[in-house]
Amino acid sequence: MSGGMFDLSARTALVTGAGQGVGAGIAVSLARQGAAVIVNDLVAERAEETVGRLRGAGRRAHAVAFDVTDPDSVAVGVARGAEQLGPVDILVNNAGVPAGMRPVPFREMPRSEWSRYVDLNLYGSLHCVAAVIDGMCERGWGRVVQISSGAGRTGLALGVSLYGASKSGIEGFVRHLAHEVAPSGVTANCVALGLMGHGAGDATARLARSVPVGRLGSPDDVGAAVVYVASDEAAWLTGQTIALNGGSSTL
Ligand SMILES: NC(=O)c1ccc[n+]([C@@H]2O[C@H](COP(=O)([O-])OP(=O)(O)OC[C@H]3O[C@@H](n4cnc5c(N)ncnc54)[C@H](O)[C@@H]3O)[C@@H](O)[C@H]2O)c1
Repeated sequence: MSGGMFDLSARTALVTGAGQGVGAGIAVSLARQGAAVIVNDLVAERAEETVGRLRGAGRRAHAVAFDVTDPDSVAVGVARGAEQLGPVDILVNNAGVPAGMRPVPFREMPRSEWSRYVDLNLYGSLHCVAAVIDGMCERGWGRVVQISSGAGRTGLALGVSLYGASKSGIEGFVRHLAHEVAPSGVTANCVALGLMGHGAGDATARLARSVPVGRLGSPDDVGAAVVYVASDEAAWLTGQTIALNGGSSTL
């Protein structure tokens, strides 16, 4: 694919946590627009599975398993991916759900669990930005896309206070980063997701009815938004949080 709008065939993207779910959908969408995709996940087999899907569709992709919360592993993993597919032009910080996350009200959450959310959403994203931002600025083009959540902006009694706080934190960082790197041709934005889901079932149907558009979000919905934010055409969009939620929140 080349020549049309949102052509990414000259770009290399890194998508974290792309072994399943939303991240895999983002990887597929970017690759469909021509981007070479470095597929990260904590779980190597998951990253390989997404790469298999991309290569099966004739796309360029390479798996790099690392934990985004470990700065040394991030540096090594990013370098390894870049050796295969070129330096990272588009970073999508998607890894954001700690393994085994379950809703817990703040008063019942042990202190030892607080850092899991902050380490992943705040520090994990920072480590990945730190690994690629100098190269983007030196080359004069780059896109940082942060996947966030409505829980970063709206209070909810769902037991996601630390998760929401970590998303708010990284959204705040992105606004400042956007200003710092704007003169270098690099943009930084967040895409904050609402109720995501798939499959049938009573709970899904009930949740879906609460969304004005009448259904839950899909990885493809997110992939389309990320393609736009990552494109040349979005050069004037920076420092923003796009609420992608079927109308659930219109703040
Ligand atoms: N699913 C939802 O309802 C929803 C709603 C709002 C926002 N989001 C956001 O969308 C993003 C993706 O969510 P999802 O539902 O697809 O998650 P998921 O749990 O289905 O998949 C996330 C992937 O990230 C990987 N991962 C976890 N910790 C990692 C680490 N430290 N380093 C590297 N990889 C790691 C996991 O192995 C997993 O494959 C997250 O940022 C999440 O906060 C999701």
